[in-house]
Amino acid sequence: MEIKQQLQEVLQEINTAFQTIDTINELNDLKAKYLGKKGCFSQWMTEMKNLSNEEKPKFGQAVNAAKDEVIKHFEDFYSQIEKRIIAEKLAKETIDVSLPGRVFPVGAKHLVSQVIEEVEDLFIGLGYTVKEGPEIEQDLYNFEMLNLPKSHPARDMQDSFYITEELLLRTHTSPVQIRTLLENSGNKPIKIICPGKVYRRDDDDQTHSHQFMQIEALVVDHEATLADLKGTLLILARKMFGEERQIRLRPSYFPFTEPSVEVDISCYKCHGKGCSMCKGSGWIEILGGGMVNNAILEATGYDPKQYQGFAFGVGVERLAILRYGIDDIRAFYINDLRFNQQFK
Ligand code: DAH
Repeated sequence: MEIKQQLQEVLQEINTAFQTIDTINELNDLKAKYLGKKGCFSQWMTEMKNLSNEEKPKFGQAVNAAKDEVIKHFEDFYSQIEKRIIAEKLAKETIDVSLPGRVFPVGAKHLVSQVIEEVEDLFIGLGYTVKEGPEIEQDLYNFEMLNLPKSHPARDMQDSFYITEELLLRTHTSPVQIRTLLENSGNKPIKIICPGKVYRRDDDDQTHSHQFMQIEALVVDHEATLADLKGTLLILARKMFGEERQIRLRPSYFPFTEPSVEVDISCYKCHGKGCSMCKGSGWIEILGGGMVNNAILEATGYDPKQYQGFAFGVGVERLAILRYGIDDIRAFYINDLRFNQQFK
């Protein structure tokens, strides 16, 4: 058979086989089948030795030309198959931009931290500095120097976790007052707020928690009057509970202040008419304060003839409970995300 005719047949075969090929490996195999050592071209070349010297060059040229043609065919197949593979890959890897993205949950500040920061911002704006003290406190600072000697009945108001006879978990933030007064050696004005954890031996229930947060304020200066305290508390009340709030001071008793006051805000729910929120009185109690007791000024080296001071202490959870209508103090501490996330 003529080489040309055989070539036609081979090409036909190759074309048919190519239709069933999907991968480069398969194409490599096909190529080896025709152009490899056992392929028809090698075979033709071995057959050449049986030809006469005259026929040999003609035959050789014809086989080589045919081989070139087959090689060209394969080159074309390679580029076709590469294109096909890329097209399939692209189709498979298409990104559906209409799919919603993955949501990464973002944390947020706890409500207690938010309220503390809000109060801090307010007081920093009024020229106060933020001061902290230890949670494990000496009886001396937590009680004794705050005018609460060992036998004092008012100690019963704050049931305590004692660690030793002289050490306890602080029951309030007022000991930071004593520490700051002592640090300032009797001759420097003071203007601080002290946020922090406090502990009381209460059974936890809807309104009690054995651990909660307070913010203490202390101002000591040559002139720091009850009127200044009242003005300061009005600013705090309005910032936390609305610009139209009024406050009222009622006489009270704390060993560390004289006179002492209990501070109420006008009810933000009924605006003073009387409702369940304010138990019909039109007023809601928010904190205690007063003028720093002279006995404390003297004991810490401040001359009461030269200096006077006012102080107050407020429960952070109480502020949040009132402001957001939270009905259980335990909600702050059980870390239920459904509660926490409401205050993002
Ligand atoms: N330490 C008081 C308490 O925990 C709150 C308090 C009342 C703080 C009057 C004060 C104050 O600084 O002057 O109940």
